[in-house]
Amino acid sequence: MNSYRFDVLSLLPKSFSAMTELGVIGRALNKGIAELHLHNPRDFTKDNYHKVDDEPYGGGAGMVLKPEPIFTAFENIPTYKRRKVLMMTPQGNVLAQKDLLRWSENNDQLVFLCGQYEGFDERIRTLADEEVSVGDFVLTGGELAAMTIINGVIRLLPGAIGAAESLIEESFSDLLLEHPHYTRPAEFCGMRVPQVLRSGDHGEIAKWRQEKRIERTKKRRPDLYRRWIENDQSTEEEND
Ligand code: ADE
Repeated sequence: MNSYRFDVLSLLPKSFSAMTELGVIGRALNKGIAELHLHNPRDFTKDNYHKVDDEPYGGGAGMVLKPEPIFTAFENIPTYKRRKVLMMTPQGNVLAQKDLLRWSENNDQLVFLCGQYEGFDERIRTLADEEVSVGDFVLTGGELAAMTIINGVIRLLPGAIGAAESLIEESFSDLLLEHPHYTRPAEFCGMRVPQVLRSGDHGEIAKWRQEKRIERTKKRRPDLYRRWIENDQSTEEEND
């Protein structure tokens, strides 16, 4: 199978070294499950000052990212058949696990447009298939947002995570949050591992875990709990 390709347009390409060496993602990149290619629009400027931003038309504070270096850098990127171009912006659709699943399954290349401090010249938006926000807060640039998405997509790619079941039992994919986990020792600082988990009764353990998942979701994420209830009912209707 061909590896999944990530291309990032960023004025701070070095920030991605935070993810290229370490852990599951570093290993997946080293194994060739995915490739990460960084492109700095500054390298595609044609003036002596390597200017990537300029003052806003109409006046006002802050600078605006110029379209030319970004378009030129973008045109330099190879195009895979199932490519998707994502612009990182707090104005985009808020990211959810279903998006990561969709991109991991339907695409073979993700291109990220990251801003720094400044806004994008509006014409840069025409390059994007989707605008994505990682949450209702403002970061200094799109790099952490792009790294979040790359991380979330890579871990869904075949071979990136060891045990297959660690993906199957997963929180958001079936809408409930995870149950509590324990490992040795059985008692720590007066806190004991629930007896049922040490009983060896797999039926009882599964029941306890499911109850905890429901209880946790209801308490912490009533919005997810409601969706789960609705989903559960529609699956029951399908099976009738
Ligand atoms: N750039 C700045 N803030 C952002 C956010 N919340 N999501 C995506 N890109 C961003």
